[in-house]
Amino acid sequence: MADPQEVLSRRVQSALGAAFGADFAETDPVIRPSQFADYQANAALALAKRLGRKPRDVASDIVAQLDIDDVCREVEISGPGFVNLTLREEWLADRAQDLLTDPRFGVPTQSPQNIPIDYSAPNVAKEMHVGHLRTTVVGDALARILEFLGHNVIRQNHIGDWGTPFGMLIEHLLDVGEHSEDAELVKTDPNAFYQAAKAKFDASAEFAERARARVVALQGGEPETLRLWRELVDLSKVYFNRIYTKLDVTLTDDDLAGESGYNDMLGAICDELERKGVAQMSEGALCVFLEGFTGREGKPVPLIIRKSDGGYGYGTTDLATVKYRVEQLKADRLVYVIGAPQSLHLQMVWGAARAADWLPDDVTPYHVQIGNVLGSDGKILRTRSGQPIRLMSLLDEAIERASTVVAETRPDLDDDSRAAIAREVGIGAVKYADLSVSHDAEYTFDFDRMLALNGNTGPYLQYAAARIRSIFRRGGLSPEEATGPVTLGEPAERQLALALLGFGPTVRTVGDTLEPHRLCGYLFDLAQTFTTFYENCPVLRAEGATRESRLALTAVTLRVLVRGLELLGVHAPERM
Ligand code: ARG
Repeated sequence: MADPQEVLSRRVQSALGAAFGADFAETDPVIRPSQFADYQANAALALAKRLGRKPRDVASDIVAQLDIDDVCREVEISGPGFVNLTLREEWLADRAQDLLTDPRFGVPTQSPQNIPIDYSAPNVAKEMHVGHLRTTVVGDALARILEFLGHNVIRQNHIGDWGTPFGMLIEHLLDVGEHSEDAELVKTDPNAFYQAAKAKFDASAEFAERARARVVALQGGEPETLRLWRELVDLSKVYFNRIYTKLDVTLTDDDLAGESGYNDMLGAICDELERKGVAQMSEGALCVFLEGFTGREGKPVPLIIRKSDGGYGYGTTDLATVKYRVEQLKADRLVYVIGAPQSLHLQMVWGAARAADWLPDDVTPYHVQIGNVLGSDGKILRTRSGQPIRLMSLLDEAIERASTVVAETRPDLDDDSRAAIAREVGIGAVKYADLSVSHDAEYTFDFDRMLALNGNTGPYLQYAAARIRSIFRRGGLSPEEATGPVTLGEPAERQLALALLGFGPTVRTVGDTLEPHRLCGYLFDLAQTFTTFYENCPVLRAEGATRESRLALTAVTLRVLVRGLELLGVHAPERM
């Protein structure tokens, strides 16, 4: 067990049981990092009320029962009844030493849950916008982290591959010719294709008429129309996959779970909702009205399940996702990584699913709300002409700009090596910028800031890792050859060891809260703690056991940085 907070918790809990009886052995001992010691146990304050005694007396009863000598070198009551706990250097050193080889990095495997995670979800024959970029990046990091924690993660890329726009898209495809250059645009510049279709739809009544008839044929399952529809989906998949490859995210064709896949369920969904009295007809549409969902003037807001024209909507499909993921995928937790503005939609979908008994109480749904990405004008990032930014160009520009950074840091390398590094740095910078701010906060897309070599950025952490590797190169050994033993003398060494042990608890917290920015914050702090260590404690110039220990601490830091970045989906280049 490498997490000091966890170890201290257990020990204090045993003491609580011994001092106040078995009823208290499960009480949260409230262990917090403290500026007066390494940690502080605050349990006495809450317990004093429960026991009707003075907090300080409760604290001394706890301390009297505390069996902790092997872990702490100092236990002291302070203030109104805090218990200050200072860890033993030997204990800390041993834990840090374990991290040199522990494949789990001190992170215990959790009891596995099935977790379908809905992320990315771009739309067919449309450009992915920066919002899609962010759900893709955040969702992918969460998928990696939950998997590392031992869960069975089931990626669900709920692409928009069904609906009325397909009428005009198919007609346009026929007009330009299926294998024409214009059709190929879906693979390279989907918005150009979409805009051309839309322009015709708006300008020509004849085209609009064809498009509408095509929608009817599509919904009726007419084979030739379905074939053309599939053609568009397949072309789009090529585009999505190019983006995913460039971004180095883990999504593959196996993860596609688009809207169209639920078509067969929708009729039965409506019937069951009606039969169960969850949905009712209102102005010709089948709707679910849920308590607490009211708009202006207290008017109830409906979740429309079947429109008056008989068509199903986005809400119906999402109800199907809940039912499918719970019943077929045996979900223990449902995760939706979707734009913050869709919060009301999801609340209503889940409410309806609960009312229909499709979402059991013990399955918790989470909306990981994705905040907007803004341009320098404070509005949602778009091109100057108001078009959505082409994601591919944005990523290419990041790589292009990163190559300028790399040209500065590594003028000695050849062009190919520099280009490879620039790809990792450029993509890492974009991804890290998406991840390092709280997922529901808006942020301003700013190349200069995300590519900066200082501050909480991807390149800063990649650079920190590369610098550590260069320490080993200069020392003439590989990081794997640093085996310790770790001993802790200087305060900066102790600080670094403590920081390293924070990795496990941080990853666990991210798994619980689904907030990857906490891992970014941790890695940034760790890199800074390492810098302080490196400034105060010479590594290569040290001698004997001190040198061995410092090399080991340096190697553990590298391991943790690289693994942490990897969990975020950011690759740390060997040299930079
Ligand atoms: N395709 C939708 C969009 O681009 C996002 C879908 C999100 N996932 C879901 N299950 N509703 O806005």
